[in-house]
Amino acid sequence: MIRPIMRHATSSDLDTLVDIENRAFTGNRLSRRSLKMMIFNPRAVMLVCDVDQHIVGYGLILHRQTAQAARLYSLAIDPKFQGRGLSRSLLLTLETHTDKVAISLEVRADNQAAIGLYDSLDYVKLKTRKAYYDDGIDAVVMRKALHQ
Ligand SMILES: CC(C)(COP(=O)(O)OP(=O)(O)OC[C@H]1O[C@@H](n2cnc3c(N)ncnc32)[C@H](O)[C@@H]1OP(=O)(O)O)[C@@H](O)C(=O)NCCC(=O)NCCS
Repeated sequence: MIRPIMRHATSSDLDTLVDIENRAFTGNRLSRRSLKMMIFNPRAVMLVCDVDQHIVGYGLILHRQTAQAARLYSLAIDPKFQGRGLSRSLLLTLETHTDKVAISLEVRADNQAAIGLYDSLDYVKLKTRKAYYDDGIDAVVMRKALHQ
């Protein structure tokens, strides 16, 4: 049985984070520079999912001072480790790292795995942003109320 440990990302995780980003996403990837900036951004919480001392995924939420909701900015699991409940654990852990009243996110309308994950964790679809992504795919905006 997999026993993941969720911990804050550090700069020594950067190479692995870039590798996961490249393999998990086909486009709209965060650059190495952006990932590094997020590790040190005081308004960001970046957690890595560690399985047997290997980083196999990460999740990132951002806190804008004026926003009521935290924003799930990115979430990715190494394709070799998908389908084992790791993103569910990671996202549930991220939800405990915000004092905001909600978490919101945007997801590609054709990303069935991610939408399935968010549905299963009670994220609610709020609206669709038409042709939001460069290739014309819509974005689905979802939100979950926290601390009720
Ligand atoms: C989306 C992603 C993070 C899911 O990670 P994962 O670790 O494989 O997901 P989990 O195993 O934790 O699955 C949790 C739930 O999500 C849903 N889910 C996961 N994969 C799914 C799929 N292919 N189709 C439909 N639902 C899926 C299911 O409800 C699942 O629960 P279940 O296994 O009890 O049915 C992963 O596919 C990924 O990294 N994709 C590439 C990056 C990405 O798209 N990130 C999201 C950007 S918004």
